[in-house]
Amino acid sequence: MKPASIAAQALGWVDGETRAIAPPIHTSTTFIRDPDNQYRSGRVYARDDNPTFDQAEAVLTALEGGHASLLFDSGMAAATAVFQALAPGDHVLAPKVMYWSLRNWLMNFATHWGLRVEFIDMTDPDEVRRTVQQGKTKLVWIETPANPLWAITDIARTCEIAHAADARVAVDSTVATPVLTRPLELGADIVMHAATKYLNGHSDVIAGALTTGADSAIWLRIKAIRAQLGGVLGPFEAWLLTRGMRTLFPRVRVACASAQVIAEHFAQHPMIQEVLYPGLPSFAGHAIAAKQMHGGFGGMLSIRVRRANGAPGAGEHAAIATAANVELWKRATSLGGVESLIEHRASVEGVGTPAPVDLLRLSVGIEDTDDLIADLEHALACARS
Ligand SMILES: Cc1ncc(COP(=O)(O)O)c(C=O)c1O
Repeated sequence: MKPASIAAQALGWVDGETRAIAPPIHTSTTFIRDPDNQYRSGRVYARDDNPTFDQAEAVLTALEGGHASLLFDSGMAAATAVFQALAPGDHVLAPKVMYWSLRNWLMNFATHWGLRVEFIDMTDPDEVRRTVQQGKTKLVWIETPANPLWAITDIARTCEIAHAADARVAVDSTVATPVLTRPLELGADIVMHAATKYLNGHSDVIAGALTTGADSAIWLRIKAIRAQLGGVLGPFEAWLLTRGMRTLFPRVRVACASAQVIAEHFAQHPMIQEVLYPGLPSFAGHAIAAKQMHGGFGGMLSIRVRRANGAPGAGEHAAIATAANVELWKRATSLGGVESLIEHRASVEGVGTPAPVDLLRLSVGIEDTDDLIADLEHALACARS
């Protein structure tokens, strides 16, 4: 089966007893022990054993071409579990441009954990080669395309460099989704998703997921961390996630096609200084994106707004005014839902953000592209007048 068919039918699951094609939600927190003192069902206690997780995890494993997956109660819980599986003193490479909340955690908490985190330009293989420490660097963290500038990292090349130094590679593939990129096939060891975003796709579940290519030592530690720290998803959210993934392919394909048209349209706009989108041939990472993203360049882009009089330069106020004047786009944070979102990213990230003050981050949903363009045109006109 092709991945789109796997997703649409959630692996073709049918209930053995009732022949239902939609799975049940298991709310039980505990399971019966057998008379001979064994747990033949393999399930003991639902902190780690809830059957409702199984289908979502199996679907994601199949979509990523992996060995196994684990759901977590948020993308941050999934991401931090990978770092928590490391030991004090371990050296870690992370990108300078990455999801800001994880960057903050790495700067403020991972260091207390004893990790030595070095932030580098992950898009530059020479810098990765220079900074990776043979035997000491245990993890290289990639995010591609990376928030909020959509910087592209060459996954295959970075994996080669990291593996030569005996470091594992984890990829935050939230924005690419398994529809466009399968990092494990490019050599990554672990794929991470904020399942809150495209995997669920309806802005109604906070969830995270990790998929591993092998039953490695780090994976066994991650499994133990989830079981013992207990950062697990609720059964209803796991069920909603399975349902959301059934429409992953059409949602992502529509968002990609629309984002490409929107990026091309506004690249020529007099109020726009620059459009950041991996699908534009002028974008720095376009060639690598074309190599490792298949079927589209994602639904995320950013626009940099000029001053209100249209003169070049940082149009912070014009950007904020544009976000204030949209009607169809929703002025909210997050991404990957069926509804399009717009936000002034520097206002969200605060001090230390790599986001220019004139940058608006756009998450393109599945509405009509012409409506989205007309609404943004109108908002830019309001900001100008
Ligand atoms: C790329 C990326 N990674 C991780 C996260 C964290 O996910 P969550 O909000 O589910 O904790 C986000 C959230 O915005 C994200 O955009």
